[in-house]
Amino acid sequence: MFETAKRRQPLWLLAELTYKCPLQCPYCSNPLDFASAGQELTTEQWIDVFRQARKMGAAQLGFSGGEPLVRQDLEILIAEARRLGYYTNLITSGIGLNAQRIAHFHDAGLDHIQVSFQASDEEVNQMLSGSAKAFAQKLKMAREVKAQGYPMVLNFVTHRHNIDQIDRIIELCVELEADYVELATCQYYGWAFENREALLPTRAQLERAERITNEYRERLAAQGHPIKLIFVTPDYYEERPKKCMNGWGELFLTVTPDGTALPCHSARMLPLTFPNVKDHSLSHIWNDSEGFNYFRGKGWMKEPCRSCDEQDDDLGGCRCQAYMLTGDMHNADPVCAKSEHHSLIVEARLAAEGDVSTAMTFRNERNSRVFFKG
Ligand code: FES
Repeated sequence: MFETAKRRQPLWLLAELTYKCPLQCPYCSNPLDFASAGQELTTEQWIDVFRQARKMGAAQLGFSGGEPLVRQDLEILIAEARRLGYYTNLITSGIGLNAQRIAHFHDAGLDHIQVSFQASDEEVNQMLSGSAKAFAQKLKMAREVKAQGYPMVLNFVTHRHNIDQIDRIIELCVELEADYVELATCQYYGWAFENREALLPTRAQLERAERITNEYRERLAAQGHPIKLIFVTPDYYEERPKKCMNGWGELFLTVTPDGTALPCHSARMLPLTFPNVKDHSLSHIWNDSEGFNYFRGKGWMKEPCRSCDEQDDDLGGCRCQAYMLTGDMHNADPVCAKSEHHSLIVEARLAAEGDVSTAMTFRNERNSRVFFKG
């Protein structure tokens, strides 16, 4: 069943340094039971992971979480990653950042900082993040990142509650002199899946947001503005699935705070065994473990994927989405209109057109305990 002959390299290493986070976004992609994760890797253990992955060909290293700034050894990890020759990227909410820390990151050789926002105004930002001070801090830090010579890269996760403010979000980005803006419509994993009903926008909301983004893009380009607006549509309004992670175990390697190695950030929910970097070498994990080999190639496919003439385009879509929605991780991703479970997606879209509950479960330790298994 497994296909192992092809030579693959984990080009992109994502180091989820911690699940600790001062915010509580209801669309966080961290696992629902994150609070049950084991002890975080030490500085030395992380550096060893970086060293092993670099030897195997990894070129890009993302620091994320939770909030990676919570780790007091972040400067050390960045410096070591740089010394090993990685291109490094920090994905942060900006909470816990200050001018001095940015300067330290710069000295340590950090290449890139992405600051995430919840909304374009304080009120919605506070409702989503659970912090009254977060918005002002994010604005300050976005400006500081730019002042210290980094390109300003902003990320807005859009959904039902903020997508109608897309024009204000773009205006804010222009005012901040952002270079790259990711307007990423929420994808439904982790806490976002739990809160899907309250977060999924309607088709009309989505189409309006895309149209407005295109209009801004044209207008700003005509004015010679260098800002790049990247609009990401949610799977739920597509008829074909995405080639998730560019193929299972092809390029991406995620290491979670406790050292569990995954082919994607959500895979821990699947009924598979995933190895831990504390117990195995990265080479064994990448090349020989069940978790990384299971969905490589196409031998695992069932119908309709098995005989589909588009199977190379999407490799059956996202395994985590197939499992979350159908209970069988071997099924075609239900986003695909050829899937017998596609009605689940259509029903979710239809539900978004009606009166939906606005109640949300916020991502915090207390709520996470409810999802502990066993
Ligand atoms: Fe896990 Fe798509 S997020 S395979």
